[in-house]
This record gives sequence, structure tokens and C-alpha cells, in this order.
Amino acid sequence: PREKWCGHEFLYQYNGFWFTQTYFQSTQRVVENFKPLPTDVILASFPKTGTTWLKALLHSITNRSSKETTPSSLTFNHPQELIPSLETKLYVNEIQSNGTESGVIKDPKNTRVLGTHIPYQILVDILNSSDCKIVYVTRNPKDTLISLWHFVQKAKSVEQEPWELEIAVEQFCKGVLPFGPYYEHVLAYREQSMKRPEKVFFVSYEELKEDSKNCVKKIAEFLGCPFEGENEEEEEVEQIVKSCSFEILSEHEVNKSSDLPNGFPLPYSSFFRKGEVGDHLNYLDDEMIRKIDDITREKFHGS
Ligand code: A3P
Repeated sequence: PREKWCGHEFLYQYNGFWFTQTYFQSTQRVVENFKPLPTDVILASFPKTGTTWLKALLHSITNRSSKETTPSSLTFNHPQELIPSLETKLYVNEIQSNGTESGVIKDPKNTRVLGTHIPYQILVDILNSSDCKIVYVTRNPKDTLISLWHFVQKAKSVEQEPWELEIAVEQFCKGVLPFGPYYEHVLAYREQSMKRPEKVFFVSYEELKEDSKNCVKKIAEFLGCPFEGENEEEEEVEQIVKSCSFEILSEHEVNKSSDLPNGFPLPYSSFFRKGEVGDHLNYLDDEMIRKIDDITREKFHGS
């Protein structure tokens, strides 16, 4: 089945989830070819839930002993470059379909961190047959939708019809969005994190905002590279949190760039907009909020 999404774009349904044609093809390539190493860390997320932030944090946490990396690597490289995504970078076309096995690991002793928006339900066989670890980030559904709405506006060319917010809310509730439905996406990774906390770490954008230092420490412990000693804990954690903050990251020239990343319709700068909790209150009316709250209650009930 296919459904019109926004502008003239269609989404295609695959295993209960919706994909643009490009992501449908690259996701199939991932399913057919991707074999995680036992040492891999997979950063999984629904789009616009804080992926870029987590990419910066995971890069900093896993590379903190190597001298030439953080924080200077974050100054000169967009987090999306430092941690490539399976379906948007590594398996975008046939030629690159082997990308993860060749291009990314330069030093196999280093932990390889890879991003993905692909739902757990679709990667289940691959992830369950590997000892790789998964970090999943999620975010308040209303802020996620507003972030996506802005992101899509930037991508649209002028001749396309606008993506009305009312329609975006409807589509969010029906789950007809790239990698949607949001709820089933979150719930499956959440369930795995409850069943196998040693394999899946679940964190929210809001928790990260509220207590970044504590989250960074917990992620490092989960990855088996805890901060040790009082000095490291306090100074290094603080340094990582600061260098990955919205304020610092969004000021780097590379992150302000209007260059288009390889095969991607949006400039690097579009991954940094406002970086706040609760921005949906500036856009959604009471009726829209009620609609999303109702479905959130229904879907997340008991979880
Ligand atoms: P807003 O549109 O609400 O500002 P993703 O990386 O999954 O695409 O998510 C993008 C969202 O994360 C955007 O949200 C973006 O501004 C925000 N973001 C990017 N870097 C961030 C950071 N270092 N800290 C907090 N939020 C960040």
C-alpha cells in the first residue's frame, strides 16, 4: 500500500511502517546486507527526537581517550558525518551497500557507532542475532511532530503545496510519516530495553535536557566505558555535555552550513533549529493537543 504524504511525495508501507521510496529501498538493503559486529553500538531513533545530539554525545563518549578526536572533531565535522546512518548514508545505493563493512571501520578496535531510524520490528533478526548494543532516544510526541514539521518545510521546494499543520497532526496520529508510526517505533525499543537492559539503553530528550551529566554517565556505564575517578567524572563529563550542547554545536561553521550532505535534500544547518522542550505549545492549538494526547494515552497505556 501507498499513501500520499506531503507535497507530491508518496509513502510506502513495509512491515507495518511507512517509508519514502528512497528509504524503502535502502532499508531493504540494510535488512539484506547489514551484519553488526558484536562491538557495534547502534543509535536508534524516530526522526527528530534528538538523533544529532546523541550522535555528538556517543562520539564523544566512545572516543574520549583518543587525542585527535573530541572536542575538535565536533568543531569540524557534523555529527551526522561522525556517526553515519545505515539507511541515509551507508546503504543509500547499490555501490555503497557494503559501506559498513569497508568504509566505516578504520580501526576495528574502536567502537563503531551507527545510526538508524529503522524500527526494531524490521531489524529484529539482525539485532537479536548480534551482541551489539543499542541506544534508543525518544522525545515527547508533540515536540517531535513540530520539529519534523519545521524540518519538512525547509526541504520542500516552493512549487509544492504546503504541509498544513492540521494535516501533519492527522498523519502523525495515523502513523503515516517516514518511519512511522511513532508509537509502535518507540514501544518496540522500549520493550526490549525492559527485557534486556544490558543490550538496549532507552533515554528521552527531556531526561537529557534535565540532567545531561547523569545521562552521559549512565550511557558510558552501559557501553562498558564508565568515567572513573572523581576528576574524570566531573571534568570530562562536564566537558562532553558542554561541547555537545545545542548552544555550542549550533555555532560551529560546519553545522551552520548550507551544503547538502551526500544524497540528502536538506542542508546540515537544518538539524539545528531551536533545541528546546515544549516548543509545540507555540504551534499546536487545544484541539490538536487533545488529539495527540488521546492517542498517546491509548498507545502508551501500561508501558
Ligand atoms: P527542534 O526542531 O525542536 O529544535 P534529530 O537530530 O533527531 O533530527 O532531531 C533534531 C532536533 O534536535 C531539533 O529539534 C534540533 O534543534 C534538536 N537538536 C539538535 N542538536 C541538539 C543538541 N545538541 N541539544 C539539544 N537539541 C538538539
